[in-house]
Amino acid sequence: DAAEVRATLRADAPGEMVSRHIFGQFAEHLGSGIYGGIWVGEDSPIPNTRGYRNDVVEALRKLEVPVVRWPGGCFADEYHWREGIGPRDQRPVRVNTHWGGVEEPNSFGTHEFMDFAELIGTDAYVSGNVGNGTPEEMAAWVEYITSDTKSTLAEERRANGREQPWKLPFFGVGNELWGCGGNMRPEYAADLHRRYQTFVKAPHDQELVKVAAGANSDEYNWTEVMMREAGDHMDALSVHYYTVVGDWPPRGSSFEFEEDAWIETLSRALHMDELITRHSAIMDKYDPEKKVAMYVDEWGTWYAGLPGVNPGFLHQQNTLRDALVTSLTIDIFSRHAERVKMANIAQMVNVLQAMILTDEDRMLLTPTYHAFDLYRPFQDATHLPLEIQAPNYEHADHSVPAVHGSAVRGKDGHVYVALTNLDANRGAAVSVRLQGHDATRVSGRILTAPAIDSHNTFDQPETVKPADFDGARVDGGQLTVDLPAKSVVMLQLQ
Ligand code: AHR
Repeated sequence: DAAEVRATLRADAPGEMVSRHIFGQFAEHLGSGIYGGIWVGEDSPIPNTRGYRNDVVEALRKLEVPVVRWPGGCFADEYHWREGIGPRDQRPVRVNTHWGGVEEPNSFGTHEFMDFAELIGTDAYVSGNVGNGTPEEMAAWVEYITSDTKSTLAEERRANGREQPWKLPFFGVGNELWGCGGNMRPEYAADLHRRYQTFVKAPHDQELVKVAAGANSDEYNWTEVMMREAGDHMDALSVHYYTVVGDWPPRGSSFEFEEDAWIETLSRALHMDELITRHSAIMDKYDPEKKVAMYVDEWGTWYAGLPGVNPGFLHQQNTLRDALVTSLTIDIFSRHAERVKMANIAQMVNVLQAMILTDEDRMLLTPTYHAFDLYRPFQDATHLPLEIQAPNYEHADHSVPAVHGSAVRGKDGHVYVALTNLDANRGAAVSVRLQGHDATRVSGRILTAPAIDSHNTFDQPETVKPADFDGARVDGGQLTVDLPAKSVVMLQLQ
């Protein structure tokens, strides 16, 4: 017997624009996130365009990735950009001290990243080095990327093969300054932010959003101090939150688990709502006009690494569970569209909650990729309130609403309703009253799978993938949906 769920869609009360940048990605020099995953080099037998894997580029272009953050993460605060320009065979080889102690050849540097961003048609978000870099180094990097003058730095860029400056819309002033970025106190970090950002200057005709390094999860005092001491010197402040099963460090398997880990994961993903609400309340105190945006520039699931892989590579599988973490999180970002203007899932390829996994010349799309794909109509759409009254789904010591969702009016004018059934076993009969919207047709797509831990492998890459959905009917002002257990559905109303 299905759970009875009632909902009201307020098409007559449109809200904020849901920024496309909440569908952003994060690509760090970590494991095979860059090397092997995106970049194989021009001489590789793996089909590539100027060194970038064709299969990965094609999949990312299809997804319409709006922004990519690079080069870290922790890596950013020990990265010296000069080591990644000029002839590749002359670039210094470093040790990636954060991630597995492996060699960092520096063959993927500024030119390779900025060209990659252009190739997949995405905005670039570069994170600078506050941890062990200087303000001068940071300022020079921005000039190198953006200047159209005949300055020595701009001429050096030209000599390295790039005539026109690149577009650089977003720049991060350090990363996790409370931890791997320098173990700072927030007071010190706020002062350093003020100092470093002073010298980050784009040409006058380019807008450059400067992002301050924000809090870890529920460290609210960090946001308080950053806003109080440096709120007038930033355009955005970040927050990082990872969904972890059990305690830190993550020990849960990414692909073999039972219902207790399923519900715990989803329940922890839902915690994002409280985090955003409370960080936003602090930001509101110092910035009631919401001039400073919140960027959740790292989020996603973090499980134990796959056996046999360097644990520093953070290489994990991705199941139907991750698809639901995605849908719940995007629902939450959409509902907080007035403050949350960007989010970057960690990470894009082969690392943590990845879109794409690669193994030599093979590639697969994960359930997370497919969830991002389902939600594409949300990019730059208008948020519409969706109030849901659902019974709770309970298991082990956890209790979560059985059904979650969000709605928008897309750029194409159609109304889109996203519904997630968190219950591992029980379907839901959902009736949605459409207030201020008469629809005559509904079509949809569904993402579900045989088991909660179903996932795609290189031999069976299509176990979890979206399908057409015919379980919805609309009659004037009433939408009814038979929502299968453990599924995500995206409906289009016409
Ligand atoms: O995404 C992996 C790491 O998690 C990032 O480098 C760091 O910023 C965070 O702690």
